[in-house]
Amino acid sequence: MGLLEGKTAIITGAARGIGKAIALKFASEGADIAFTDIAIDEIAEKTVSEIAVYGHKVRAYASDAADFAATGAVVEEIVREFGSIDILVNNAGITRDGLAMRMSEAQWDDVLRVNLKSAFNFIHAVLPQMVRRKSGSIINMASIAGQMGNAGQANYSASKAGLIALAKSIAQEMGPRGIRANAIAPGYIISDMTNALREAVREEFVKRIPMRRGGTPEEVASVALFLASDLSSFVSGQVIPVNGAMYC
Ligand code: NAI
Repeated sequence: MGLLEGKTAIITGAARGIGKAIALKFASEGADIAFTDIAIDEIAEKTVSEIAVYGHKVRAYASDAADFAATGAVVEEIVREFGSIDILVNNAGITRDGLAMRMSEAQWDDVLRVNLKSAFNFIHAVLPQMVRRKSGSIINMASIAGQMGNAGQANYSASKAGLIALAKSIAQEMGPRGIRANAIAPGYIISDMTNALREAVREEFVKRIPMRRGGTPEEVASVALFLASDLSSFVSGQVIPVNGAMYC
């Protein structure tokens, strides 16, 4: 029997990358999967068919996680179709890098809305039914940038630090109701997001990692599985780094 047998997970921004790896891992452990992304295109449809191989229910929803009203509506639809939600992974994220001095208001607002406000939107929407059922596991995808800061990523780092504090606060508010909340802080993980960086920047990152390589989305997904499952039944309000010993 899988670690997530009979559970339903919502994963935001899971058409590709880390979110997709989490969806596949959860499905391989028995979970039904409802995932969102900004658009359900060919890539997202392919992700749906890969998840379906595990034989559990899967559906993709086009939804802007930064939109409060749209999030409420999509969660209502998911609850109607899946019955209940046991696990929420706030994974959707973007970068709009630049030095703070030169950063536009839009660069700041976009990143804070998509990375941080989105997590509040989903947490706000799923909590009522998690409270009724007195259980649930919420996972925020933070970043090493949220722990250490990062030059050129003031907006991104602030949003990721916010995700850590959000998880800790929800853990304290909801602990008495049987709901856990944690954050994962990946370091340099190989995905479309980091492949967009210049090769020289990527090489520089790898030099700073004691394990001398980038992590894989699957390595982040394994930690998400731990936090989603009863293996972590007394772990809440924590942030787990997945970074090959970077800066430790
Ligand atoms: P990615 O760019 O490959 O995937 C992000 C997904 O989020 C995409 O499918 C995108 O369409 C979706 N998305 C963007 N805006 C959205 C919105 N408004 N509503 C719904 N979906 C939206 O990125 P990756 O690398 O898989 O990152 C996943 C998460 O992990 C992000 O939160 C990222 O900040 C975080 N992370 C990634 C690291 C890395 O090295 N790749 C390191 C630390 C954290």
